[in-house]
Amino acid sequence: MNDTLIEQWRQRADAALQHWLPEDETLPQDLHRAMRYAVFNGGKRIRPVLTYAAGHALSLETDSLDAPAAAVELIHAYSLVHDDLPAMDDDDLRRGQPTVHKAFDEATAILCGDALQSLAFFVLARHLDPHIPAQQRLQMVEELAQASGSRGMAGGQAIDLAAVGRDLNVAELENMHIHKTGALIRASVRLGALCRAGIDATSLGQLDHYAKCIGLAFQIQDDVLDVEGDTETLGKTHGADLARNKPTYPALLGLDDAKRLANELIDDALHSLADWDEAAEPLRWIARYIVQRQH
Ligand code: IPE
Ligand code: IPE
Ligand code: MG
Ligand code: MG
Ligand code: MG
Repeated sequence: MNDTLIEQWRQRADAALQHWLPEDETLPQDLHRAMRYAVFNGGKRIRPVLTYAAGHALSLETDSLDAPAAAVELIHAYSLVHDDLPAMDDDDLRRGQPTVHKAFDEATAILCGDALQSLAFFVLARHLDPHIPAQQRLQMVEELAQASGSRGMAGGQAIDLAAVGRDLNVAELENMHIHKTGALIRASVRLGALCRAGIDATSLGQLDHYAKCIGLAFQIQDDVLDVEGDTETLGKTHGADLARNKPTYPALLGLDDAKRLANELIDDALHSLADWDEAAEPLRWIARYIVQRQH
């Protein structure tokens, strides 16, 4: 039942993205092709699915969630295009295919990321459900900006680059992961919740705690898979973190403790939803999936 819903939300996110991304043949053609290439190459769509699942837990209509769901995935796709650039992680493979700067060129990849980011805010500003109170709509734009910027994902990426080859302690590593990956996952849940007019502080707080826990667990599992996964299943190069001397949880704590910590975070996330009824079941399913996934 949860699997079916989640598959429906994946397809729904894809349809929304198809709708809002510029057509391939429109000018500037290479840029538009690169944008579609970066988005439609088999991502798991975990962030938009989280937006739908948070809205579902609050009994919202799916229609009002399409814009924030697409917006968070557009930010995510942009972050991956830039993350793979030679100046950053210098990766050739993403989702089993050449990275955007390999399939096109570096300048196009940079512009592709820029344009995907702008499109995310265009979609939010233009297509948010007008029934959501104006103040909440504004808050959603603000929260996505904060989650993407120097106090969110981009800031985390800066910490990541500055940390290469240095020894971070657990608190520093956690801070890096919370920013580079956690912030956008948190925003994915919060934006879904903010589609509920007049959402109460307790519900938002419980969802927020859930999101913080799964956001950190998500990056810990990403680090674990870099060690344990194979390139074919991962769709990205196995062992890339080790090869680049990246600070990761398995490197700092060892694989077993990294996995234990990820599982504890999932328990904590589930605990935060203890008072929620079966409408929160997809959120629970996603939390478990995050540490069980193989790619
Ligand atoms: C990979 O994210 C990058 C991280 C933030 C860890 P995902 O594992 O969600 O990537 P896709 O979108 O499914 O390819
Ligand atoms: C990605 O972290 C964080 C982003 C903001 C994109 P990683 O560098 O570990 O992601 P992968 O492993 O390349 O997908
Ligand atoms: Mg990186
Ligand atoms: Mg990377
Ligand atoms: Mg990684």
